[in-house]
Amino acid sequence: MTEPKKLFIKTYGCQMNVYDSERMAEAMGGEGYVQTDTPDDADMILLNTCHIREKAAEKVYSELGRYKGLKAEKPDLKIGVAGCVAQAEGQEIMRRQPMVDLVVGPQSYHRLPELEAKARSGQKALDTDFPEDDKFTALKSRPKAKRGPTAFLTVQEGCDKFCAFCVVPYTRGAEVSRPATRIMDEARDLVDRGVRELTLLGQNVNAYHGHDKGLGGLIRELAKIDGLQRIRFTTSHPNDMDDDLIAAHGDCDKLMPYLHLPVQAGSDKILKRMNRAHTAEEYLKLIERLRSVRPDLHLSGDFIVGFPEETEADFQDTLDLIKAVEYGSAFSFKYSERPGTPAAERAQVPEDEKNDRLQRLQALLSQQQRALQDAMIGRDVSVLIEKAGREPGQMVGKSEYLHAVHVQAEGQAEGIAPGDMIPVRIVSSGRNSLNGDVLPR
Ligand code: SAH
Ligand code: SF4
Ligand code: F3S
Repeated sequence: MTEPKKLFIKTYGCQMNVYDSERMAEAMGGEGYVQTDTPDDADMILLNTCHIREKAAEKVYSELGRYKGLKAEKPDLKIGVAGCVAQAEGQEIMRRQPMVDLVVGPQSYHRLPELEAKARSGQKALDTDFPEDDKFTALKSRPKAKRGPTAFLTVQEGCDKFCAFCVVPYTRGAEVSRPATRIMDEARDLVDRGVRELTLLGQNVNAYHGHDKGLGGLIRELAKIDGLQRIRFTTSHPNDMDDDLIAAHGDCDKLMPYLHLPVQAGSDKILKRMNRAHTAEEYLKLIERLRSVRPDLHLSGDFIVGFPEETEADFQDTLDLIKAVEYGSAFSFKYSERPGTPAAERAQVPEDEKNDRLQRLQALLSQQQRALQDAMIGRDVSVLIEKAGREPGQMVGKSEYLHAVHVQAEGQAEGIAPGDMIPVRIVSSGRNSLNGDVLPR
């Protein structure tokens, strides 16, 4: 028998890249590769990259630089770049870093085995096409290995929204939904292998139309799978939250009370210039509707500060919106100019202004996060146990609201294993997690 070759994958960017990396690793398993967690003994290094902000994209080149020595020592080592930088910069990558053997865009992963063979034969291999078919169907299916209690499942890809700051519509292409039957099959298989919680993924996941009743319809169907206990989805666009999906938050028990619903800014002028196609008030109304069906819904969001032409007054509108919503968690970024996007051509906000706004915004958001976390003390939640904690006997899992919860109390955590769903009373709140006591089951 020949020794298996070793594949090292490093993943940047969003959860969709995490899912893609898993699928690529599995597909390469069929080509005689096993995964390794260090680049040092790898026969192939694959960087699954992100182009969303300048810093993310530049990381790829510095990471590649680090492999120069390895490649010199081991001429057979193949280096590949996948993901959104591969899509956006294609040949430019090979020009800047001649040691790269293979470049593959996010819609061409099913061609990875062919591309790898081409690279092995000493040629440069590049594919950044946007084929029509579902790449996940063409990608070799998952091996029957046991899985942990949580998994991602991509149901939709691409984006047609063209927010003025964003590269995703260019790197991932137009919105495509996977057929519901294939998703159901994959979900059942994952549940058979131990998964208890599924997070449905899409760049615009609620624009999903592979089911005749949209994402809400798909979620209701998934909820019928025995053994699947929790469903989440991310990332949503406010304009695609249809009536049925809103209703599902109230009547589908398996759909968790946590929603990531990015708004980016609170000023109508900026929202318009961002091409978000809704106002701040419409967003707040939507949240009101969601909370009327699910009062304990925890919200999370994404914010950009220092978008071109954002004034101090516009920024104050964002702070006001945040105060009105009260987020459970949030991600916030300084606007980053991206080549080829409309906003990159406009008058930029000075860097020190951006830094100052980001600091103030993050102070408010972390204060809110803290307050909501502290408000959990004394409440009973259910925790899906994921793994052992750092201290002996301790286990860690997630609450319905996606808070990490440590089960601490002496002896109580005994006999509890990953995949168990247990009732817990929250007793204290740490930096980024909660601590609780196991309740009698
Ligand atoms: N599809 C999702 C998110 C995609 S990217 C949505 O529509 O919300 C994730 C986040 O990165 C965005 O929500 C936005 O806050 C941030 N982002 C995207 N482009 C950016 C840019 N040019 N500069 C700074 N942040 C950006
Ligand atoms: Fe980017 Fe906007 Fe599409 Fe989200 S909705 S991926 S921010 S273009
Ligand atoms: Fe980044 Fe591409 Fe995801 S740009 S955020 S990896 S869709």
